[in-house]
Amino acid sequence: MSANQGRESAESTEAATGMDEVWIEGGRGLKGSVAISGSKNATLPILTATLLAPGVYRFTNVPALKDVSTMLELLTLFGVRSRREDGGTLVVDSTNAHNTEAPYDLVKTMRASVYVLGPLLARFGEARVSLPGGCAWGPRPVDLHIRGMQQLGADVELEHGYIVARAAALRGNVISFDISSVGATGNLLMAAATAGGETVIENAACEPEIEALGRFLVSMGARVEGLGTPRVSIKGSTELHVASAAMIPDRIEAGTFLAAAALTGGDVETAGVDPRHLGSILNKLEAAGVSVEASETAVRVRAPKRLRPLSVTTAPYPGFPTDMQAQFMALLSVADGASTIVDTIYQDRFTHVAELQRLGADIRVEGNTAFVQGVDSLSGAPVMATDLRASAALILAGLVATGETRVSRVYHLDRGYERIEEKLQGLGAAIRRVRA
Ligand code: UD1
Repeated sequence: MSANQGRESAESTEAATGMDEVWIEGGRGLKGSVAISGSKNATLPILTATLLAPGVYRFTNVPALKDVSTMLELLTLFGVRSRREDGGTLVVDSTNAHNTEAPYDLVKTMRASVYVLGPLLARFGEARVSLPGGCAWGPRPVDLHIRGMQQLGADVELEHGYIVARAAALRGNVISFDISSVGATGNLLMAAATAGGETVIENAACEPEIEALGRFLVSMGARVEGLGTPRVSIKGSTELHVASAAMIPDRIEAGTFLAAAALTGGDVETAGVDPRHLGSILNKLEAAGVSVEASETAVRVRAPKRLRPLSVTTAPYPGFPTDMQAQFMALLSVADGASTIVDTIYQDRFTHVAELQRLGADIRVEGNTAFVQGVDSLSGAPVMATDLRASAALILAGLVATGETRVSRVYHLDRGYERIEEKLQGLGAAIRRVRA
């Protein structure tokens, strides 16, 4: 990509069309080192935080992903301009930000769009944001976001599919979530960043991406304490200012490559990661018989020929991430024995099961539990990606399946993985994108 190309939506991810496929010839053990990109889920809320104070922000390690382009496109509607500089720095200019609505057309393609709610309310005293609706694996409510805004003093109505929130002035309060929610914690932190007095969030999400957002708000002038713990407090400031940030590494991308290495009996180093964020994933890999070596910014795994089965239960951070559940299902589908996977975050997040079954996996789902009986081998077939992490699981399965696996609808993949086929090629995989 040439530099200064204008808005990020002009980036390579846009070149992919909905009809692209990824073709994989399975059976090669992965070997080598792969550089992990910046975190998608940290980047998205941090970009919306630029609405809180006008000015020119500079961000590094921002991944070139479809979801990031979508967020920048959404922010463009609010008068926020952005461009990539030489060297990859993303410059975001919110000097002329103004208030308008976040339309259904964009919000339905990316639920994280709801992250504009808090900053808009904080900055303009009003926000109109489309309700995101459900997703491939069931309803995904935003009631905690709405109730939290109300507790900060906002008047919130649902009108014609839109959340309409108004507040002459937000004031701090104690907000106690009954469920730990990444998005609601992030949204409330941003809303409270300009509120009068102190806001305390109990049962706050401890995810590193929320910690990164909180640190960014601190660098903008907010006073935040307890980040990374379930009790976060924030003292609002009416004098927030421009700041810059380097995005933290994407722990889910890293986990996906580590799982790919483990699955293929490989020997792979993920570079540019924060191993502290990968604890639950690395513990499970070790329990499956993988040797794990972590330094300050890299993790190397060496896998045996056959993995041991596991029992995996997803949970809020520092528990095992639901965003790694599908990839581990691919991995366990060829382990030596019977595994169970319980998803406690999303009860129906199993759309990948039917596709893995097409490759020969032996999986039975009951409620939110998948029983996976490891098979000796998978066999390549055409399969369809149904969502972001399901796509990754199918790619992983394709890496060990005999013969060719063709994954269609890979636009899901482009939402969250930067150049995944190139990175896997670099590790020796026989994988290519076939443009429609
Ligand atoms: C974020 C991540 C997503 C990840 C998820 C859980 C981003 C952009 N996305 O999504 O990749 O899978 O965390 O780790 O960071 N809930 C409610 N009411 C609400 C909000 C959430 O009931 O108002 C429930 C959800 O249905 C779910 C649980 O809370 O069961 C956790 O969801 P949440 O942490 O909010 O997920 P997201 O922030 O949407």
